[in-house]
Amino acid sequence: MARTLGHTGTGPARELVMESVRLSEVARSAGTPCYVYSAEALLSPLRELQKGLAPLESTGPGAPLICFAVKSCPNLSILKLLAAAGAGMDLVSGGELARAIAAGTPGERMVFSGVGKTADEMRAALSAGILAFNAESESELDALEKVAAAENRIARVSLRFNPDVDAGTHPYIATGLKRNKFGLSKKELLRAVERAVSLPHIRVAGISMHIGSQLVSLAPMREAYASLRALLAPVNSRLKAPLEFIDLGGGLGIRYRNEKPPSIADYCKLVVKSFGKLPKDLPPLRILIEPGRLISGPAGVLLTRVLYTKEQGKRRFLICDGAMNDLIRPALYEGFHEIVPVTGPAGGARSKMDVVGPVCESADFLAQDRMLPTRIQEGDLLAVLDAGAYGFSMASNYNSRPRPPEILIEKDRFRVIRPRETLDDLLARERALC
Ligand code: LLP
Repeated sequence: MARTLGHTGTGPARELVMESVRLSEVARSAGTPCYVYSAEALLSPLRELQKGLAPLESTGPGAPLICFAVKSCPNLSILKLLAAAGAGMDLVSGGELARAIAAGTPGERMVFSGVGKTADEMRAALSAGILAFNAESESELDALEKVAAAENRIARVSLRFNPDVDAGTHPYIATGLKRNKFGLSKKELLRAVERAVSLPHIRVAGISMHIGSQLVSLAPMREAYASLRALLAPVNSRLKAPLEFIDLGGGLGIRYRNEKPPSIADYCKLVVKSFGKLPKDLPPLRILIEPGRLISGPAGVLLTRVLYTKEQGKRRFLICDGAMNDLIRPALYEGFHEIVPVTGPAGGARSKMDVVGPVCESADFLAQDRMLPTRIQEGDLLAVLDAGAYGFSMASNYNSRPRPPEILIEKDRFRVIRPRETLDDLLARERALC
């Protein structure tokens, strides 16, 4: 739960507040379902990372760069807030590039990840002057060479290393095992370096890595960092000019339920320890990281209202206006999100229930077998916590449901940063064609 969430009042007048705003007031004004984010909760992990990695400034060329993984929460106002606080952006599509540019991120603070960049995306990223393409295959290098040659530019590349470590996370969000489609093994990576050196419009400037998401232990990172360190000398020996940076990816987990993820401070200590001092024959390297969930996850909640309650045998259902199309994590990854009533007293009797939405799928649940206050009834407002990352970002129009609005809280004020989609938005592109 974000540090900026708390309660005001007592007994029946007890209410959930984010920063200094009552969430019931936001729901009244914006309607439900809606996503609500705290600016302070977005900025505080960014600042902690900046502070924790600051010791690297003296050992590396250039300050460490924290590239926010845009995919986790791509709203323009949020990107603008983070970019203004010094963040760079980790992109995976031309769409995310357009967002990062619109949010005012300088090109030299952007990296472009992903296994399937198209020529158009490469062209757009080159013209934005991005810091690096995190390249994932030799075919991609060849394609990038072609685009860069036609544009008469040099593409700076950071080859993605797959260290084959088990990140111990949900298989759908693990990326650092040999069987995953991501990155290159040591052998393949060294071959790719040799190939890149022969391509006149490619410059290998870095090595990148991302072993998975929602990691709750530092052990796999420690192991992956050691493999990466061992790769630096052989890569450098094949290059004309030495590597400039390494990009360690994102993946640090958050506490959704009872996980005990490492603190930001301990994570930073590991990075500083692993890369602050490199063997003497290696030139110093700038450090990049690509956190997403860590920054946006705890900063957002999904507000939803109970439309109906229903008893079916022993099961009790809270049927809400928020559904799997709004937040797909429970259905897709069995993701756990804490759910709390927005108003009403603490404590009291609890019973097991399923929190479900109106979508016609049995996988349409926000929670199953969850102990919640028995007093919850029709019309009550619920907050689904830690929904800022991969929440709105993965929302869809399934069942022709307009996507919810997004609201940003700054201290005692709130504003809509994306309006609720309308039925007109949904039909407009087809209407003229039928
Ligand atoms: N860098 C790369 C190359 C990535 O693929 C990802 C996430 C990140 C950084 C950011 O990872 P984070 O710090 O947010 O863990 N939809 C899933 C998560 C998918 C993550 C995909 N890659 C979920 O809801 O759990």
